[in-house]
Amino acid sequence: MAEFFLPANSVVKQGKLFKATEGVKNIRRFIVYRYDPSSGENPSTDTYEVDMDTCGPMVLDALLKIKDEMDATLSLRRSCREGICGSCSMNIDGTNTLACTQAISDIRGEVKVYPLPHQPVVRDLVSDLTHFYAQYASVEPWMKTDSATPPDRERLQSREDREKLDGLYECILCACCSTSCPSYWWNADRYLGPAALLNAYRWIVDSRDEATGDRLDDLEDPFKLYRCHTIMNCTQVCPKGLNPAKAIAETKKLMVQRKI
Ligand code: SF4
Ligand code: F3S
Ligand code: FES
Repeated sequence: MAEFFLPANSVVKQGKLFKATEGVKNIRRFIVYRYDPSSGENPSTDTYEVDMDTCGPMVLDALLKIKDEMDATLSLRRSCREGICGSCSMNIDGTNTLACTQAISDIRGEVKVYPLPHQPVVRDLVSDLTHFYAQYASVEPWMKTDSATPPDRERLQSREDREKLDGLYECILCACCSTSCPSYWWNADRYLGPAALLNAYRWIVDSRDEATGDRLDDLEDPFKLYRCHTIMNCTQVCPKGLNPAKAIAETKKLMVQRKI
């Protein structure tokens, strides 16, 4: 398993320059983080000159063009190219976001592309999110019930109760929020981080779930929940416009309310 942690945009050695074909006029430069843990070499950044006249508008388009036409060794994850699978999360121009929804035209100058900060790197732009997913699984993100399932229909929910899940169920588990949170950087082993906590809250407030007390008991811990210090990076970067900081604050409120 790769064990290399690097904050976004740390200075790493300059690597190769891949120049555009002669005569190409409309060029953007992409500075891309490269690291192969199995090589024994330190990370570096390679520079690619991309012909924008034959490139799509998003950073993912440019990265795929680089991989297809200039350097097949570049590794990255992507699937939907629609902002719904969460695979292409990375640090672009200093901010965690999705490469497929980040317009190149919104970035000035050279486009710097790094993996998500403070995660082990599998290779190049591919972070190892094993721990992140394990934390998500630890909040048991499924409906838990003790009562018998109605024999003739689903478990129903009022329109108002359903609306309480808006802004929560849309999470695509891209990890942009958790990997932008300083509390998570320093305590990821014990602090669950904004993504897992938003998803915990999604089930805490689901009117059909019957394990609310157990869920809150599980978060009653000096690290799991209370290491959030309202830094707000999570909400600022979420590419789906969600508000994990609010979900965490609401969870803390419920913790207090149930003691009164
Ligand atoms: Fe990604 Fe937003 Fe979900 Fe965090 S809350 S994992 S940033 S979609
Ligand atoms: Fe971190 Fe967001 Fe809390 S950035 S400290 S989880 S408000
Ligand atoms: Fe699916 Fe970007 S490729 S979110």
